[in-house]
Amino acid sequence: MRLTEYVHLCLETRLKNGDSVLDATAGNGYDTLKAAELIQPNGNVVAIDIQKQAIEATEAKLTEAKLSHLCELHLGNHGERLSEIKQSFDCILFNLGYLPGSDKMIITIAKDTLSALNQSQRLLKENGALFVTAYRQHEGGQDEANSVETWMHEQHANGWDIEKIEPKHQSQILSPILWIASRSRLTLPPFLNR
Ligand SMILES: C[S@@+](CC[C@H](N)C(=O)[O-])C[C@H]1O[C@@H](n2cnc3c(N)ncnc32)[C@H](O)[C@@H]1O
Repeated sequence: MRLTEYVHLCLETRLKNGDSVLDATAGNGYDTLKAAELIQPNGNVVAIDIQKQAIEATEAKLTEAKLSHLCELHLGNHGERLSEIKQSFDCILFNLGYLPGSDKMIITIAKDTLSALNQSQRLLKENGALFVTAYRQHEGGQDEANSVETWMHEQHANGWDIEKIEPKHQSQILSPILWIASRSRLTLPPFLNR
């Protein structure tokens, strides 16, 4: 099972009609669309991406699914834009790295990721869940993953429940890592292939 599939499985078990979701890295819109499907017809999704191309791809997916009226899309840096958001969320998603099929130079960087994660503390509901997937094969990816790891340790020390999933590959390739964090006790579906 890929981590992206597992995140969607977790969303299926957690989200219901009326819930709210923040997608801090909209990308090609797969996660935003999944969230919109699960919270319809009364919930809402706020999605952010630093690339116009990503916002357009996400908008196109939502329009095709007739769900764009439930979603607010913001073009900008999540490290800065999250401070403008006032509502709180049941799930917050970070799928780090670069936009697949696009310029690999435009990637999430630790400084902005940490700033956005710090803002997420305020934006996450008491029983909400934060999902962060980090990729380590591109330049800077391992450093960013190390920063997220440290941030997660700090939250754990503050009483948060943290689950870390690092699939084992037979090859030497560094696998992506998923962290799931909550102030409340997490109940998660099993991840096969752990
Ligand atoms: C791996 S992709 C996200 C995939 C997406 N969740 C999906 O379902 O298709 C990472 C995205 O993060 C975006 N990104 C990079 N730095 C960012 C930043 N500082 N603020 C917001 N988005 C950023 C990139 O433009 C890219 O689209």
